[in-house]
Amino acid sequence: MHSRRHPGSLTKELDLDAKQFLELVDLASDLKQEKAERRQQPRLAGREIALVFEKNSTRTRCAFEVAAHDLGAHVTYLGPDGSHIGREESIRDTARVLGRMYDGIEFRGFAQQTVEELADHAGVPVWNGLTDSWHPTQMLADVLTMIEHHRSPVEEIAFCFTGDGRNNVARSLLVTGALLGMDVRIAAPPALQPPADVVATARDLAASSGARVLVTDDPAAGVAGADFVYTDVWVSMGESEAEWDARVPLLSPYRVTEELMAATGRPDSRFLHCLPALHDRSTTLGARVFDRYGLDGAEVSDAVFESERSVVFDQSENRLHTIKAVLVHALGA
Ligand code: CP
Ligand code: NVA
Repeated sequence: MHSRRHPGSLTKELDLDAKQFLELVDLASDLKQEKAERRQQPRLAGREIALVFEKNSTRTRCAFEVAAHDLGAHVTYLGPDGSHIGREESIRDTARVLGRMYDGIEFRGFAQQTVEELADHAGVPVWNGLTDSWHPTQMLADVLTMIEHHRSPVEEIAFCFTGDGRNNVARSLLVTGALLGMDVRIAAPPALQPPADVVATARDLAASSGARVLVTDDPAAGVAGADFVYTDVWVSMGESEAEWDARVPLLSPYRVTEELMAATGRPDSRFLHCLPALHDRSTTLGARVFDRYGLDGAEVSDAVFESERSVVFDQSENRLHTIKAVLVHALGA
């Protein structure tokens, strides 16, 4: 069957070129301003959006719901349980059913193949709200946040992701930085560096965008001169809890502490995190990590998370404005 992919779909960052990516970021900035000034228009009045989640979410779900409501659209949430998707009904059949009822579909889940298959068969825009491979709507928010705090063209921004370099967020940051001509670094132990094909893609993109790409196992070298230091959880959704035993010793040198922030050499460098973050023992997971490993927080210290350098809540707010831009671009009149 030939693909019925809608051009408004966003299954991964590389569905976009640099110009299209930055146009969405600009649109998000305009929509943010409109909302602040209470000038919002119901651009998607009467539209119906399906939100399909195989994994948990706070930000992505809420951003899609609030964005849709702000624009006058309605949503239906299908959670990890309760629908037939993938169990009694194939992805292809589900795509064709939802495509008859909805104007657009968000999908968060495990396999990238699932969101690609939905996009191929739904006939309406399909947006990736995170898979094991990529997190493209997060990237739009992250770039908007960096631009807001750095106030210079993206090509002049340097950022370093430190931690599990194989995870969805690290992979997405690497290709996004390379696509946009940024100075992008990944600091991760050899066992947790991004896969060779993703690094090769980033280097290919850099050859034409002018990006500087560094993958290193030296956290201090990774962050030297960086405007932004970014980290993410050490064990991602869908991975076994048992991974913690190996990850703690491997990733402790990559934890974002005040010392690592100082190693940027930049008193104005900022801290980013897609969230949720393990920065103290106030959660059940945080308490378990403290009891088992004696670590108070994991990938970032509470001191950095709560510091003036931390712009993580600006970043999470920007999920709303950037997801709204994705909806308006795909469905707006
Ligand atoms: N950053 C992010 O995607 O958060 P949620 O898992 O809460 O959606
Ligand atoms: N890497 C994390 C990102 C959460 C937004 C995960 O997949 O769990």
